[in-house]
Amino acid sequence: MTRCRQDDSAPWRIGVLFSQSGVMAVIEETQLRATLLAIDEINQAGGVNGREIVPVIYDPESDAQTYALCAARLMIEDGITMIFGCYTSSSRKAVLPVVERLNGLLWYPTLYEGFEFSSNVIYTGAAPNQNSVALCSYLVHTYGTRFFFVGSDYVYPRASNRVMRELLRSRGCTVAGETYLDLRCKRSDFRPVMRQIKNTGADVIFSTVVGDSTVHLYQAFAEAGLDAGVTPIASLTTTEAEVRAMGFDVATGHITAAPYFQSVSGERNDCFVRCYKARYGEDEPTNMCAEAAYFQIHLFANALAEANSMETDLIKQSALGSDYDAPQGLVSVSASTSHTNLWPRIGRVDRRGQFQIMQQSLMPVWADPFLIGRGEVGALALRS
Ligand code: ACM
Repeated sequence: MTRCRQDDSAPWRIGVLFSQSGVMAVIEETQLRATLLAIDEINQAGGVNGREIVPVIYDPESDAQTYALCAARLMIEDGITMIFGCYTSSSRKAVLPVVERLNGLLWYPTLYEGFEFSSNVIYTGAAPNQNSVALCSYLVHTYGTRFFFVGSDYVYPRASNRVMRELLRSRGCTVAGETYLDLRCKRSDFRPVMRQIKNTGADVIFSTVVGDSTVHLYQAFAEAGLDAGVTPIASLTTTEAEVRAMGFDVATGHITAAPYFQSVSGERNDCFVRCYKARYGEDEPTNMCAEAAYFQIHLFANALAEANSMETDLIKQSALGSDYDAPQGLVSVSASTSHTNLWPRIGRVDRRGQFQIMQQSLMPVWADPFLIGRGEVGALALRS
């Protein structure tokens, strides 16, 4: 067990790993900001058991191996047990062996492909039954049955598409084409993809493109003269942050499934959005990945207050089964899966770059990372 050498008045030191440079900074910087906002809120309220939380922050530069090196540095050199970070599944998979070998705890605030369990990770982003299932039903009912898959070339898009292909097959739908582009591709690389999409006569483009490429994909779509009202891009990864980067006109009409949008109504979210904008600027939107980064710090702080220790096993004991009144609604960490129960929603981008919520769950949906129940409960709970 990793032990923390801290006296009773020393700050609680935690590791924070989000890319501030490279192709993933467009979204990971928002996760870093939300993490720091939550830490400030806790410290301003007196810290945890009278002690401040102090983040030790490294920039892994959108590179999976650098993530692994930074995680090892945090745990071995800095003596830190709790790491908050990672967006891509490749970065999470690079950090996994480090936290598993040294018995740390990675708090991972990003949607992912599922089919994973580590007792050294708390997953606070959506599993496939909390986004893909509802998105598939919505798209098939609203737009049609022929899908074209376009993704970035790494583990998440390929695994996520495998899930979507299965969901489509079970509904008698078809995948008209599938293509993957390098994470560092240019806008011109999407032009042949748009021609392919037109040739196949697809009804929906299912995108698992992430980072800077997201902007290129949507801009290439607009350039190709495709119509979002007829053949939208539907995504699990395009948030308000990428929408802002690509331009609202380019994004209008496209679809995303997520547990959180800035447009979620309610005082708890109003407060989060107000505080985020007061700190980072009126034009800076919140998004699902930032919200998960924010609420997981609060979940951790509550667990820490109970454990009064940074020992991984004690924090885990307190965190598993705990809940928190998050901006998206009440969330809780499942003691059996280490995944978080969340509120699936479907949003369509409007002219102001905000997601108009088309459907939302009436209740939090249990994470089912291995799709044992195929997540159908999530789909049924949705109401227009
Ligand atoms: C992801 O790579 N989990 C979006």
